Amino acid sequence: MQRSGNGAQRNKTEDDITAEVLARFSGTPNPRLREIMLGLIKHLHAFVKEVQLTEAEWFQAIEILTEAGKMCSDKRQEFILFSDTLGVSMVVDLIDHRKPDGATESTVFGPFHRLGAPEMQPGGNIAHRDRSGTPALISGRVLDLDGRPIAGALLDVWQTQTNGLYDAQDENPDELHMRGKFRTDAEGRYLIRTVRPVNYPVPSDGPVGRMLKATGRHPWRPAHTHFVVSADGYEPVTTHIFDRIDPYLESDAVFAVKDSLIVDFADHRSPDETAKRLGITGSYCTAEFDFRLVPATEAKTTVMDAQHRLAALGARA
Ligand code: BEZ
Ligand code: FE
Repeated sequence: MQRSGNGAQRNKTEDDITAEVLARFSGTPNPRLREIMLGLIKHLHAFVKEVQLTEAEWFQAIEILTEAGKMCSDKRQEFILFSDTLGVSMVVDLIDHRKPDGATESTVFGPFHRLGAPEMQPGGNIAHRDRSGTPALISGRVLDLDGRPIAGALLDVWQTQTNGLYDAQDENPDELHMRGKFRTDAEGRYLIRTVRPVNYPVPSDGPVGRMLKATGRHPWRPAHTHFVVSADGYEPVTTHIFDRIDPYLESDAVFAVKDSLIVDFADHRSPDETAKRLGITGSYCTAEFDFRLVPATEAKTTVMDAQHRLAALGARA
């Protein structure tokens, strides 16, 4: 560093500036915030120096972030999409949700959860307006780590329609569709009527789509159904189940596939008693999945709490 006439120090090199910025943040009173800010500055500066970022590229980044911000609304979260497609969401998921063996693994929340899904009876149909999909029954149990059933557990479920769109992306975006909340019975059982999930591209009409195109990546997600499963005294799990035959399992645009979450959908030509009772008249398919929850140790902020915070910022149900 250079000294100016009045004794103050002047930054000379890139590394001088990094050191000066780190020094200014080093007095942050909250220790966790201090750790985060110092780490952020260290890595952000190292990144800029490593790629020798030009001013034009820096400005392009500002434009991209500005555009992403403008695209965000009650139905669209471009920043979550950036985080997902850059793999950051899954790294956070792995760090913050380390689970004991046997517990159901978590995966990305994604930008399409909505508050206010209706509570449904066992076998309730979340796909009541979907006319083209293959009817599907998803069933199983919610258990603790010793295999004991958890009665009264809540499953918040959502999925795309067979046209590959979430309700908020389709013609009547204010109407909830392909969403429901289900409670387990005394034996921990749940039963959901839906349609077989399909693969679909993540929204590609904004800066994330341009990034995927420019880097030669496809936007497809393998077919899946989303769940947030919660019960008193247990850690909630945010997860999906994936269809084993999907061609995009190996190259999910958001890196969210875990082997333990892949299930077989079995095809049936005609309805059994349960399917008949639920109004299925022709061919359909079934999938089974048991969720295993970990006892809650400490009150932790969850992705659903974050969803409520977003709602407070203007996201509607
Ligand atoms: C989803 O599965 O809904 C999703 C997840 C991440 C990015 C986009 C969509
Ligand atoms: Fe999805």
